[in-house]
Amino acid sequence: MALSKERLGRYNPEKPQENRLTDLGPRHFWEFFPPVIQENYGKWLYHDILEPGILAHVSETGAKVYTVRCGAARFMTVQHVREICEIADKYCKGYVRFTTRNNIEFLVDSIEGLEALKKDLESRKFAGGSFKFPIGGTGAGISNIVHTQGYIHCHTPATDASSMVKAVSDELFEYFKGMTLPAKLRVSMACCLNMCGAVHCSDIALLGYHRKPPIVDHEYISKLCEIPLAIAACPVGAISPDKTESGKKTVKIKSERCMFCGNCYTMCQALPLSDQEGDGVTILAGGKISNRISDPKFSKVVVPWLPNSFPRFPEVVENVKKIVEAYAKGANKYERLGDWAERIGWERFFEQCGLEFTEHLIDDYRLAYDTWRTSTQFKFTDAAWEVSKVAGGIEE
Ligand code: HEM
Ligand code: HEM
Ligand code: SF4
Ligand code: SF4
Repeated sequence: MALSKERLGRYNPEKPQENRLTDLGPRHFWEFFPPVIQENYGKWLYHDILEPGILAHVSETGAKVYTVRCGAARFMTVQHVREICEIADKYCKGYVRFTTRNNIEFLVDSIEGLEALKKDLESRKFAGGSFKFPIGGTGAGISNIVHTQGYIHCHTPATDASSMVKAVSDELFEYFKGMTLPAKLRVSMACCLNMCGAVHCSDIALLGYHRKPPIVDHEYISKLCEIPLAIAACPVGAISPDKTESGKKTVKIKSERCMFCGNCYTMCQALPLSDQEGDGVTILAGGKISNRISDPKFSKVVVPWLPNSFPRFPEVVENVKKIVEAYAKGANKYERLGDWAERIGWERFFEQCGLEFTEHLIDDYRLAYDTWRTSTQFKFTDAAWEVSKVAGGIEE
């Protein structure tokens, strides 16, 4: 395979602007629609989930389309993409699509085609034994985990994305293959609190977290960084300008004020903060983005810190399972995890999930006041006593 030298011009480093094509934008999606989708665009009447991972859409023209949704690792080789194309060529006239949660969807227009496709997909495995194209991710189950770069590509992570997602997905696999929960449960992951993706609005979210302030590289900071940017990057005003003994411009960090967000490092390479023992994982819960019944919600911190136990993150997996199982047992039909937690009260949420409440979970940032309880309405739970204790309200 080679790039066309005629169509796009040959790249000449001596004249980088010559024959340069720019601002072409993406290809129009219409070009890539299977014929049945083009013909029935805007005419769909209803849909059904035939079984986990299999959808059927029926058009007012009478046309039907069956969709097979498969899990994917998101991070994939060209070889794997070629295998996807090969499957699409064989069963789907060469058409295929990816979902907003990075699942793969193969579309066919007959039941016979559907059965052959399903059988083929389920038979494909990697040499290590993992399914290449597990079918599922529909309805009231757990679909793919939206996640980030981790140690594969980013320079600011506090944990890894792909390995944690694999470990958690392995444990939640039965929920990907089934639709047994009260409502869909969205899990997402981000390796630092830039929160690329959807951790701030997911039912369960895994977030990389630091616990030590940055180290200041006094020697190079004035050469590498725009110092006022680093100072302005800090959400808590912990950074101020300073001079070294030899008179070089630098910064000082009030470490008791720093809450290890890493924002100053994003702005300034001379302030690294990642740390083997300090870094780990925070779990959030109860966010959602749809407007169904209740408004969209932000997820809330429920586990302050778990260690980065590479490569299988047993502590993270165990805590996610505890939350999923308590939710599956306790919630009513259609209740998202956040709806359930709010109905029973967060003190009961902690009790039912078997999670410890610590002072780290009490909001102390600017608008924190509104998150405290300005009511006498609460349930007597061990978790509620823990809150009172950590807030200094009652004696041990
Ligand atoms: C210091 C700042 C950042 C750097 C250096 C950075 C770097 C990168 C790099 C190298 C990639 C991979 C690009 C590729 O594969 O071709 C990437 C992807 C991405 N970044 Fe960032 N990023 C930064 C901040 C952010 C922020 C703040 C967000 C979102 C709030 C974000 C969202 C994303 C997303 C969504 C992707 C694509 C992920 C995917 O689908 O594979 N990035 N970033
Ligand atoms: C209040 C603010 C925000 C809300 C309510 C929001 C909401 C959402 C929703 C609804 C999704 C889709 C989740 C899904 O498909 O299940 C999502 C995904 C995502 N959001 Fe946000 N978002 C917000 C802010 C941001 C910001 C500021 C960024 C980037 C700078 C961002 C980047 C992303 C990315 C990269 C995804 C994943 C998209 C994909 O995988 O296709 N979001 N967010
Ligand atoms: S969440 Fe943070 S560490 Fe992870 S990819 Fe985004 S910027 Fe990088
Ligand atoms: S890590 Fe965050 S809180 Fe700490 S000094 Fe840097 S910007 Fe401020």
